[in-house]
Amino acid sequence: MTAAMSTSSLTIRPVADGEEGDVIALWRACGLTRPWNEPARDLAFAAAKFNSEVLVGLADGRIVASAMVGHDGHRGAMYYVSVAPAERGRGYGRAIVAAAEGWLLERGVWKVNLLVRAENTAVLSFYDGLGYAPGATMEIEKWIDPSKRGDR
Ligand SMILES: CC(C)(COP(=O)(O)OP(=O)(O)OC[C@H]1O[C@@H](n2cnc3c(N)ncnc32)[C@H](O)[C@@H]1OP(=O)(O)O)[C@@H](O)C(=O)NCCC(=O)NCCS
Repeated sequence: MTAAMSTSSLTIRPVADGEEGDVIALWRACGLTRPWNEPARDLAFAAAKFNSEVLVGLADGRIVASAMVGHDGHRGAMYYVSVAPAERGRGYGRAIVAAAEGWLLERGVWKVNLLVRAENTAVLSFYDGLGYAPGATMEIEKWIDPSKRGDR
């Protein structure tokens, strides 16, 4: 994403300085934060790297949608895909995911590996409608910094 883009009355662009509190409040309202993933640290980490970004979607000047997007030099990933509860069903979720996909395509990434929490089965229909399907891979994981270890 080279500049802000507008879709369905949602203006999408990278997060700007001073917006961190609003973005984290949105993530919290959407139930996406976990005690071991300190959201301010996650946001600052992703926003500062060349291979990742935190996108925000604004409607009437307010942040109502967000997605963290990035790649590891091979595959793309998205985290914190979120639309404010009162703003759902207006196409904002579709738009922020499309913007994240566009961000990856601009960088030559052609596949997204998306992690969905096992208990968040409700969101699978949303992703199914956007063309995401269960893959033939299984996630295995290790906390290589045990001091940051969390529950699953
Ligand atoms: C998932 C989420 C981002 C969807 O946002 P949204 O703005 O309501 O989504 P949209 O309005 O763009 O919906 C796009 C399509 O998905 C469908 N959809 C949206 N939520 C859905 C759900 N829970 N189940 C089934 N379909 C759903 C819509 O009907 C729409 O279909 P259409 O284009 O055929 O009309 C939002 O519900 C959310 O923030 N959830 C909590 C956070 C979360 O779980 N994020 C994902 C982490 S992996």
